[in-house]
Amino acid sequence: MSKITWKAGTMISPVPPALISSGTIKKHNVMTAAWTGIICSEPVITYVSIRPSRYSYEIIKKHKEFVINLPTVKIAHAVDTIGVKSGRDIDKFALTGLTAEPSSQVKAPQVAECPVSLECKVIDIRPYGTHDMFVAEVVAVNVDEKYVNEDGALDLEKAGLLAYAHGFYYALGKKIGKYGFSVEKKKKTTEVAATILKADNKFGKEKRLKEKKFLENGVEVVIAKPHFKKTNKLEKAETEKKPFKKSAKMSNKFSKKENKKTNYEPYSFKKKSDGSFKKKLKRSA
Ligand SMILES: Cc1cc2nc3c(=O)[nH]c(=O)nc-3n(C[C@H](O)[C@H](O)[C@H](O)COP(=O)(O)O)c2cc1C
Repeated sequence: MSKITWKAGTMISPVPPALISSGTIKKHNVMTAAWTGIICSEPVITYVSIRPSRYSYEIIKKHKEFVINLPTVKIAHAVDTIGVKSGRDIDKFALTGLTAEPSSQVKAPQVAECPVSLECKVIDIRPYGTHDMFVAEVVAVNVDEKYVNEDGALDLEKAGLLAYAHGFYYALGKKIGKYGFSVEKKKKTTEVAATILKADNKFGKEKRLKEKKFLENGVEVVIAKPHFKKTNKLEKAETEKKPFKKSAKMSNKFSKKENKKTNYEPYSFKKKSDGSFKKKLKRSA
């Protein structure tokens, strides 16, 4: 990989183009901010960097509270509008049709259409240059119950969160792993049983289907694997339960010993060029 060096820039991407709601439920405002993130996990400390010229800057400085709302692809148009118009001139909730809903711990409203809203109380304001950093403690998190699974965990894969990277909006891609997946140990599988299903194939001979059952983290998993090419006749399969032998060779060629054991007729099958099989009587010993 060859890289060229540019002068310093705001090149951390992607980031959420968060909606920062402020004020009160009656006198509210909302702005878009990409310069936001987490500073500390315990206590949960966040920040949002805002230019002093923004209307939101005055409001947040006065009330010392705001809400960080994570937007979805569905409301991308509104997110952009909110980021190019000022609340000094217009009610941006009314303009975009988004809903200001009361929060639980702060007076600033949350945006109902965002699946995640973090209620924040300002603990510090740090000037750095173009932007002042509002450092805040997260005092409550509101999540859309649609994305809370049966175990009570948040699964945002289907939420369609919006991302922002270097001047453009993006939809998130597919989930590709979870935290720690790179060092996760392989799942323990314990084989508990196996079943040999037999059925007539188009040659009137036995067709074998190997069915393996095993426990995967306590859950029984069944994998049925046809030994020969699958045919519809398989549906008529009669089931013959046999103890599974790990060492048994599931090949087309059955040994004499295996024939004896399983009552298979002493035929071998040779695959022809058109994919069908030629039946051949084996020489008896
Ligand atoms: C994608 C996007 C990201 C933005 N990020 C920030 C930001 O991090 N900080 C900031 O001060 N302004 C940011 N802005 C600009 C403000 O959202 C914009 O100036 C807005 O009109 C301010 O609204 P207000 O005057 O009602 O507070 C961003 C705009 C967009 C479209």
